[in-house]
Amino acid sequence: MTNTPDIIWTPAASTEDGARNARELFTRIFGGEAEGVWRAPGRVNIIGEHVDYNGGPCLPIALPHAAYVAVRPRPDRRVRLVSPQTVDAVDELDLDTVGPVGSAGAVKGWAAYLIGVAWALEQAGYGPLAGFDIALWSCVPLGAGLSSSAALECSTAVALDDLAGLGLAGSVDAPNKEGRGILVAASRRAENEIAGANTGGLDQSASMHCTRGHALVLDSRDMSVRQTPFDIAASGCELLVIDTRAPHQLVDGQYGQRRADCEAAATLLGVDLLVDVEDYEAAMATLAGEGAESGEAEEAERARLQARTRHVLSEIARTKAFIEILESAPLLSEEKLQVLGGLMNDSHDSLRDDYEVTVPELDVAVDVARARGAYGARMTGGGFGGSVIALVKIGQGEEIAQAVTAAFADHGFAQPHVFVATPADGAGRVE
Ligand code: GLA
Repeated sequence: MTNTPDIIWTPAASTEDGARNARELFTRIFGGEAEGVWRAPGRVNIIGEHVDYNGGPCLPIALPHAAYVAVRPRPDRRVRLVSPQTVDAVDELDLDTVGPVGSAGAVKGWAAYLIGVAWALEQAGYGPLAGFDIALWSCVPLGAGLSSSAALECSTAVALDDLAGLGLAGSVDAPNKEGRGILVAASRRAENEIAGANTGGLDQSASMHCTRGHALVLDSRDMSVRQTPFDIAASGCELLVIDTRAPHQLVDGQYGQRRADCEAAATLLGVDLLVDVEDYEAAMATLAGEGAESGEAEEAERARLQARTRHVLSEIARTKAFIEILESAPLLSEEKLQVLGGLMNDSHDSLRDDYEVTVPELDVAVDVARARGAYGARMTGGGFGGSVIALVKIGQGEEIAQAVTAAFADHGFAQPHVFVATPADGAGRVE
């Protein structure tokens, strides 16, 4: 046994601190005052993983961890961007030359997520926009599968919306749902086309539409959303988030390959999206190629597509069941909590075995949390690294965090970061 290090807790900065950090950075680098500060949160997805690009339901909550942008419009079309990591090399770009990945106007690095939103809004007819100076400060852990990139996009989207007087976001207390849908689409386009990560709409929807105290029921078929109360504390529970710190990257090929598998399976099954499959058994038989002659390579491919589809269809069913139980009563009985935990466990196992997006760090964190009495534990987000969530009794989080920290030390993994998540507000103006 290695000596167990202390738990590293990574709570969110307060809104006041986040806003002040962004504002101070702005003044230090650009001089003068920003016109305002806007924030947008990261998220955890409670369940409904890798189903958004298959038209299925998701159930995210917004985190108190957020990106803050201090912004001031410019009289020209220039955009200057700075974050605490880039104070020595302020990015300077031009709205007239920005273009998609692979084009002459392609944008490198984190700037793509911010300027990409301006580009996408203009593409959607909300332009021309003024150039702007923007200082970013974020406490959403990077590369942790907690939607740090959607937080950048959505904070920029609400800022540009406000500064251009588009009125799409409304306020945090009186959100314009339809307008926010437009900002979600622009943020997602920025991520897909300018940053080059072909993700679904879960993260941007969560960051833009979530509200304090609620989980968001997202129907990815039509991107419609509704709020559902998420007060697990009233039922004696908390949600522990374990950032495994195993590096996570969606711009690499694996995420795209999973999407391609789902599209290939949908084509074989004659549906637009896997959510449209009506007969599970028949779909499994078709994908298994029952009765068809095939070689070894083709059989392996069919087995893979079958496993991917099994994950997607079972995850859609689990998510619907989870939402139904969550909404069945204001207080969740011990028995219901066990069922919810079981659904989370099954979700993780399916992501591990059929979808193959977990890594040893995620599996170890999940195993330890379960062994230490969590109702359920699963990876959250895209996988290939990133974070685990565990549904636990209030107060049990610390013991589990300690046990995971010890197990990671034994395995020689990086030390995990942990916090307890409570459902926070979606994107909006801070000051
Ligand atoms: C990432 C993507 C989302 C979603 C999840 C998996 O977070 O950005 O669109 O596909 O992975 O559920």
